[in-house]
Amino acid sequence: MTADKVLPPEIEKVLLDEKTIEGRVTELAAQIDEDYAGLGSLVLVGVLKGAFVFLADLARRLRVPHQIDFIALSSYNRGSISSGEVRLIMDTRVNLTGRHVLVVEDIVDTGHTLDYLLRSFGARLPASVRSCVLLSKPDLREVDVAIDYVGFEIPDVWVVGYGLDYAERFRTLPYVAALKRDALEDGQRSEPDACA
Ligand code: IMP
Ligand code: MG
Repeated sequence: MTADKVLPPEIEKVLLDEKTIEGRVTELAAQIDEDYAGLGSLVLVGVLKGAFVFLADLARRLRVPHQIDFIALSSYNRGSISSGEVRLIMDTRVNLTGRHVLVVEDIVDTGHTLDYLLRSFGARLPASVRSCVLLSKPDLREVDVAIDYVGFEIPDVWVVGYGLDYAERFRTLPYVAALKRDALEDGQRSEPDACA
């Protein structure tokens, strides 16, 4: 089939294609398998909604026993600038005390979201807390947050696909792509309930 080669008109270019993502996710899973071998009690906590595709692919490649859980956050953005305010709108169902917690996130931009999560989970007396992030935009970092496993570093552009959205669109594209500048309207990111 060649239809998947036709990009939606709002897409500027594909940054990471399916094969590239698949290869890296396999490598991350192998590293996590090695690091958590024999430890037990691993819980992967996916951050809704953006991490749902990454979490599904990563978890299916892991050999170490693990449980899956999710949290949902809302972050308040003004224009293209993150305000740094994060609010928990759905907590985990699993009690994290005494567990090895691996936070699975789609992307770290300013770092406020991941910083909030690592602090919040750290306060629940887990056996350990680490983070696994598909994409990192190091240029925009405001908080020096620890990322234990990172898929790819990317430049400061708004990306969509493989779970990531722009105003709830493009999440199910199989690749990670940059949006055209004229497809980005500042107003769309300023809604207070824009869910990560
Ligand atoms: P933070 O600035 O590191 O707190 O990132 C906040 C959230 O913004 C991330 O969890 C993503 O859900 C979202 N985000 C940041 N950059 C992008 C992007 O390029 N595309 C889609 N979502 C993004
Ligand atoms: Mg996110």
